[in-house]
Amino acid sequence: MERMVDPTEIELPDPALRPRNLDEYVGQKRITDNLRVYVRAAMQRGEALDHLLLAGPPGLGKTSLAFIVAEELGVQLRTAAGPTLERGGDLAAILTSLQPNEVLFIDEIHRMSRTVEEVLYPAMEDFEIDVVIGSGPGAQSVKLPVPRFTLIGATTRAGMLTSPLRARFGIHCTFDYYEVGELDSILQRSARRMGVVITPDASRELARRSRGTPRIANRLLRRVRDFAQVEGDGTIHDAVVQRALAALEVDPIGLDKLDQRILTTIAYKFGGGPVGLDTLAAAVGESSDTIEDASEPFLIQQGLIMRTPRGRVITSRGRAHLGIPVDQGE
Ligand SMILES: Nc1ncnc2c1ncn2[C@@H]1O[C@H](COP(=O)(O)OP(=O)(O)OP(=O)(O)O)[C@@H](O)[C@H]1O
Ligand SMILES: [Mg+2]
Repeated sequence: MERMVDPTEIELPDPALRPRNLDEYVGQKRITDNLRVYVRAAMQRGEALDHLLLAGPPGLGKTSLAFIVAEELGVQLRTAAGPTLERGGDLAAILTSLQPNEVLFIDEIHRMSRTVEEVLYPAMEDFEIDVVIGSGPGAQSVKLPVPRFTLIGATTRAGMLTSPLRARFGIHCTFDYYEVGELDSILQRSARRMGVVITPDASRELARRSRGTPRIANRLLRRVRDFAQVEGDGTIHDAVVQRALAALEVDPIGLDKLDQRILTTIAYKFGGGPVGLDTLAAAVGESSDTIEDASEPFLIQQGLIMRTPRGRVITSRGRAHLGIPVDQGE
């Protein structure tokens, strides 16, 4: 699930900006501190690291962290995407070809089919898979061993994982949105790597308006650099940031167009809510998945909307952000 500030812009993966080891990985300290211990312990024992579940909104560094963990363990990382594993055999083939202690990374693991998931259970727990040989009455189920491996599953929606699957992960990591200071240091490093000069004020302001998300910070930095280059002297000053973010319709607290549309729709079209997710999705013209994965968590974290059993409602803080007096829009 990609979240785009500008839906027409296709994000190219930028390996140059991706952190390469735990020391370059800014923030999520609770997660990285623990992982350092688990990784070291597994390596000292010469064992595979326990299975690891990485959960959180898009762009917070789940894939980056999976690569880093494999790197720190000194093993290969094999990748697969949940939705592309169609048949149990697809996964069985990958599992039997792993080397001992290797890492298998499955992205969007909540979108894996049930049949594939059932292949995964015994593999994760007992390091074996059940293979059916032949068909009809003569069919036989045999167990095949798979090497001890580490599964790293990433998901934007931990709530959609079945409980047997969730229970098989020994380590659960839930990602939080980044602090402004953390995004500031990510931006400064990215700017250095891109060879562009950004003033401390400008970097801080960009960090404040990056929606707590490193991917968005880096994307905005690339756009701001374009404005600095074409309309300025190449240096990113605060004024360039203001000018570029206005052009990109990123609001003062970093809400993008979709966030703003969701907020105004709840406020004006549905009288502040409650409104059901599907109704809201239809009204803003976006898929309910995108809203639930990407927009809503940030709006909730910012205290602008709330989820209630009857649907989404705008908070008084949300109203204040839109400049609606408190006694209106009830
Ligand atoms: N902790 C971090 N420190 C520095 N840069 C980071 C960090 N986390 C993420 N980034 C930057 O943000 C980009 C996006 O991160 P990543 O692809 O790992 O997110 P993700 O959580 O896997 O997102 P998705 O759910 O969309 O797959 C990375 O390429 C990297 O440039
Ligand atoms: Mg990812």
